This record gives sequence, structure tokens and C-alpha cells, in this order.
Amino acid sequence: MSDWVDRVFCEDALTGLSRIPDGAVDLILTDPPYNLGKDYGNASDQQSEADFLAWTARWLDLAIPKLKDNGSLYIFATWRYSPEIFVMLKQRLTMMNEIIWDRRVPSMGGSVRSYSSVHDTIGFFVKRKDYYFDLDAVRIPYDEATKKARSRSIFVGSKWLELGYNPKDLWSVSRLHREHPERAEHPTQKPLEIIERMIKASCPPGGVVLDPFMGSGTTALAARRTGRQFTGFELNEAYCAIIDQRLRTPVADTIAQKKAVKQAAKKAAADTTN
Ligand SMILES: C[S@@+](CC[C@H](N)C(=O)[O-])C[C@H]1O[C@@H](n2cnc3c(N)ncnc32)[C@H](O)[C@@H]1O
Repeated sequence: MSDWVDRVFCEDALTGLSRIPDGAVDLILTDPPYNLGKDYGNASDQQSEADFLAWTARWLDLAIPKLKDNGSLYIFATWRYSPEIFVMLKQRLTMMNEIIWDRRVPSMGGSVRSYSSVHDTIGFFVKRKDYYFDLDAVRIPYDEATKKARSRSIFVGSKWLELGYNPKDLWSVSRLHREHPERAEHPTQKPLEIIERMIKASCPPGGVVLDPFMGSGTTALAARRTGRQFTGFELNEAYCAIIDQRLRTPVADTIAQKKAVKQAAKKAAADTTN
């Protein structure tokens, strides 16, 4: 296929997006800088409010034309700028959901004069009414106790009982702590579980997912693991190296490797104390 598919370009998305033809991608799934002052080895998260919002509008106007007519867009944001960003997006697309990602474990420290923020706000937008959406691919199986409780004759043979339920708009998935086997050296890496759910629901098998802000490459890896293609950009060369490495090493292997290293370290420590 084209030379922009299954590649992450180590360059500024705002120039790189011109590599991608208009109407060529099924899904834009992205987690752009939040403007909270984070250090990504560049100033992208440390702009004035006006510059950040103008920059957001610029990249949205470059990225949205890349969507197919039945395409969708998911964007991670925080409470600080999601209102402004969602208004911008509602002027360009149709909003379908605001999904709350409950990270479960609050970040350390934080203000003592307000509540501890423990969620990301994710916007789900579509281009047209006939957008691609495969609910069956992301249904959550009922547990055995629930199935048993619904065993009365009126429920027997119910398709929904076998297929599972529709994920709600509150997703409780722990953020990746330091010890997590998936964890790479990126400060705001997202769990594969969340990204894979979005891809399975909103990109057909074999389709293309675009992420202009790849970070550690979670979107690319999730696309590969679910049988989709990917394309995208990342500004920081060190993160580009992490992306290459993650794409070269299947996650199952990484988890097995990390477990083996940990077990060896534990055994070595036990041998020393004995
Ligand atoms: C919130 S992080 C993405 C994290 C990613 N979802 C993951 O799971 O690892 C945003 C990323 O956008 C990158 N970035 C910022 N400005 C950029 C630009 N103009 N072009 C490409 N990447 C950029 C940053 O270096 C940072 O790694």
C-alpha cells in the first residue's frame, strides 16, 4: 500500500500530516499534549492558553480532512481544556459521547485546596450518521452469577445475555504504574486495554488509525495487535526509539521478559539473604 501506512514519522505532526491523503483514514485516535506543563522534551505542553487553543484548532483542521466519510475521532483531554476543545470539535464534527476514564489511582501530591483529579475526559466524535461502529466487538461478557440470575424463561436464548453488555461511558482502568509490565519510559502512556477498545469499536479490521501524537506508540501497537494499520507522528526522538522498540517486541514477550527478570532478581536477593 502507501508509504505512509504502518509508519510513525519522527517529526512535527503539523507538517507531517500533509503526507496523508485526504479521506484515507478510518479513525483518528489521539492523546495530544494537555497544556498542564508536562515535560515531553519539547514545549508542547507548556504554552500560553491562547497559543495552546490556537495550536489545537490548527492541528484539528489539518487532521480532520484525513478522515473517511464514515470515520470517527477520539481525543483524550483533561477537565482544564476539554470544554474549549469539545466546542471546537462540535463545530467540525458530531459529538457522540463524553467518556470518563477513571484512572483509579490518583497522581501523587496535588492541591490541598481542591479535589484530587483522577479522570481523563475522552471525546468521541463522528463525521456522519453512518459512521462505522462495531458494538459486538467490545461487549463485556456477563459473569456467571448474572447469567444464572437471568435464567428465567423470559431471558433464555436472549442474544444480549450471551454477547455481553454495551460498555458504559465510565471506564475504570488503572493507569500504568511504574511496575506495570506494559510500562515504557513515557510520562503519560495510556493502557492498551483502553486504546484497543476504541479501535475495535471504531475502525474496521484492516482499516487505518491515525494518531498525530504517538508518545510511546500505544496507538500503533494497539492497531497492530488488533489487525489494523496505523500511521502517525512523534516529535521527541527518544520516544520515537521507544515506539520502534515496542513495535519490534510483541507485548506478550515483553511481559514474559519482565516477569523473568523480576523473578531472577527476587531469587538473587533471597539467595543473598540465606
Ligand atoms: C500525551 S502524550 C501521548 C502519549 C501516548 N498516548 C502514549 O500512550 O504513550 C503527547 C505526545 O505528543 C508529542 N508531541 C507534542 N507536540 C507534537 C507535535 N507537534 N508533533 C508530534 N508530536 C508531538 C509529545 O512529545 C508527547 O509525546
